[in-house]
Amino acid sequence: MRVLVTGANGQLGRDLTPLLEAAGHTIYGATRKSEENPMEITDFASVAAQFEQFQPDAVIHAAAHTNVDDCERNPDNAHRVNALGTWNIATLAGEANIPLIYVSTDFVFDGAKTTPYTEYDAVNPLNHYGASKLAGEKHVAQLCRKHFIARTSWLFGAHGMNFPRRMLELAQTRKELTVIADQIGSPTHTLDLAGVLVSLLASQHYGTYHVSNSGECSWYQFAQKTLELAGVQGVNVRPIRAADWQSPTRRPPYSVLRNFALELQGYPTLPHWETALAGFLARIS
Ligand SMILES: NC(=O)c1ccc[n+]([C@@H]2O[C@H](COP(=O)([O-])OP(=O)(O)OC[C@H]3O[C@@H](n4cnc5c(N)ncnc54)[C@H](OP(=O)(O)O)[C@@H]3O)[C@@H](O)[C@H]2O)c1
Repeated sequence: MRVLVTGANGQLGRDLTPLLEAAGHTIYGATRKSEENPMEITDFASVAAQFEQFQPDAVIHAAAHTNVDDCERNPDNAHRVNALGTWNIATLAGEANIPLIYVSTDFVFDGAKTTPYTEYDAVNPLNHYGASKLAGEKHVAQLCRKHFIARTSWLFGAHGMNFPRRMLELAQTRKELTVIADQIGSPTHTLDLAGVLVSLLASQHYGTYHVSNSGECSWYQFAQKTLELAGVQGVNVRPIRAADWQSPTRRPPYSVLRNFALELQGYPTLPHWETALAGFLARIS
């Protein structure tokens, strides 16, 4: 298939492209930074021109405004990129009647539950990033019949900045790291997520999926395990409460995703996040 990937330069996009190629697909990696064919997703004409030129058989939409605090400070811009940008892509994919995979987030949930969220749980975003990504989900579901919505969480990959990479960076210059201990989620390796997206693309099981590594932890435990597996010594990780962390953004205290739709469809369970983290550390070492 000819697969158009948005956000191809992002941490997910960079892992997705080689896996899609290995599965025999021809990839068009769209990015704003291309000199020849820049694609600005908020500009319908720009997106339409790329569809016209590449004539995709499928689209994986991974581009998003992912800076959660910036989304909170500039909610209109968050919606311009994550809602309008997705609206543009869903319109064109719907008109062409081709499959569209939209990558969404655990932040569509409010975190009031204490057991893992399934695809059948009610959404209620606490912040503008989550609200704008949810708006994107609605556009996709309304405009594109052959859609997959893949909600994921706490991404880390070999390309780009992310939480474990940041912890390793800080550990080089600090003796103590203070990390939030009262937000719980499922860290997810972009490589594992990408593998599932490639499998979904080969299916016709359209719908909403949760795609995360298994297990759960707090940011504090995630930081501890990162330093332990990387062999970093002499750095103390101190737990703090989210209320003591400077941020304009309310985040769900619990946003663990149960991959229930994948289970129902007979897909294998993804590796535990600690196994995925060890694989990530091996990749970047
Ligand atoms: N990171 C997480 O922890 C996390 C958690 C849950 C869900 N997700 C979702 O997973 C997906 C992938 O995340 P990621 O971590 O790979 O993100 P990322 O590294 O921040 O990459 C996102 C990409 O989106 C592109 N982009 C942003 N605004 C754009 C615009 N207006 N027009 C065109 N492209 C634009 C950027 O591309 P250029 O600047 O190169 O053009 C960037 O490379 C996103 O949909 C995100 O919402 C992420």
